Amino acid sequence: KTVAIIGCPFSGGQPRAGVDQGPIHLVEAGIIDQVSTLGWKTHFEGHHQFENIHVEHDPPQGILKRPKLVSAVCKSLSEVVGKHVHNGALPVTLGGDHSLAMGTISGTLSKHPDAVVIWVDAHADINTIETTPTGNIHGMPAAFLLGLTSAPEFAWVKPILKTNSLVYIGLRDIDPGEKKILKQNGITAFSMHEVDKYGIGEVVNRALDAVNPYRDRPIHLTFDVDALDPDVAPSTGTPVRGGLSFREGHYICEAIAETGLLAALDLMEVNPSLMAEFDVQKTVSVGCSLVRSALGETLL
Ligand code: ARG
Ligand code: MN
Ligand code: MN
Ligand code: MN
Repeated sequence: KTVAIIGCPFSGGQPRAGVDQGPIHLVEAGIIDQVSTLGWKTHFEGHHQFENIHVEHDPPQGILKRPKLVSAVCKSLSEVVGKHVHNGALPVTLGGDHSLAMGTISGTLSKHPDAVVIWVDAHADINTIETTPTGNIHGMPAAFLLGLTSAPEFAWVKPILKTNSLVYIGLRDIDPGEKKILKQNGITAFSMHEVDKYGIGEVVNRALDAVNPYRDRPIHLTFDVDALDPDVAPSTGTPVRGGLSFREGHYICEAIAETGLLAALDLMEVNPSLMAEFDVQKTVSVGCSLVRSALGETLL
C-alpha cells in the first residue's frame, strides 16, 4: 500500500509567517524515509507549488481574510488528495495552516462519502463568518465543510460532512460562538477535561463509538499539532496551555492505526519560525513521530 506525501507550504489562513515552512522541515527531518521504513511505498512529488494560483487582488471579504487565495489553494489541494485516494493511496498532507483541511477533507469525501473525521486540536476551527473573532480562515474550515457557513469564493466546498461524522479530541480554546455551534448541532467533542477525567484510552474509544460504532467507516484524521501541550510542540502559531501529553497524542494515532480504517491523515500548523531552534526541532520531531504512529509504528 502506498502513502502519498503532500507537502503543503501554505500560510494564508492565518497571519503568522513561517507555517508554510512546516512541510519543508518535516521532509528535511526525514519523514519520507521514516514512513518507508514502516513498510509503506512512498510517493512524494515535491512540495505543492500551487503553480497556477495567481491571486491578484484579494481584499478582505467582510471579515474574511484572503478568501480568494485560501479558496484556490484548498480547491487545488482537494483535487490532489482526491486523486490519491481514488488511486488507492493514503494521502498524508503536511501543512501549512489548518484552513487546508477544507481541501484535504473534501478530497477524502469525494471518494469516501461515508468517511468520518477525527479532529485533534486545541481549537474547534468551526467559526462561521458571523462568529469568527479574527477572520482567519484556519479557524473556520469545519464550518465550511459542514455547510454551517458559506461564501461565494468557497462555493466549490460541498457541505458533505455530517455533524454526526465529526468528533473532536483535545479542545480547550473555543470561542463563544463555537460553543453554541457545537451544542446546537450536537457535535461530539472531548475536551482536555474529558481527557483528564476518563483517560485518553477511554476518550478514543468513546470518540470512535460516537462516529464509527461498527468500526466500518473510513477515518480521516486531521491533527493540528497545537493539540499537544506547548511544552511538547512549542512551534505553532496559536499555542494553548494544558494540552495533550506526548504519549496522549501518540496514543490517539496508534489507536486509529489499530482500527485499520485510516484513509487520510493531515498534520497541520507546524511553524518552524516560532520559538528557538531547540523548540523547533522538538516540534518537527514530534510531528514526524505522530505521522509514524498513525501509519502503524508500534512500541513493541
Ligand atoms: N478560534 C480562533 C479563530 O477562529 C483560533 C483558531 C486557531 N486555529 C488553528 N487552526 N490553529 O481565529
Ligand atoms: Mn489549533
Ligand atoms: Mn486547527
Ligand atoms: Mn529553516
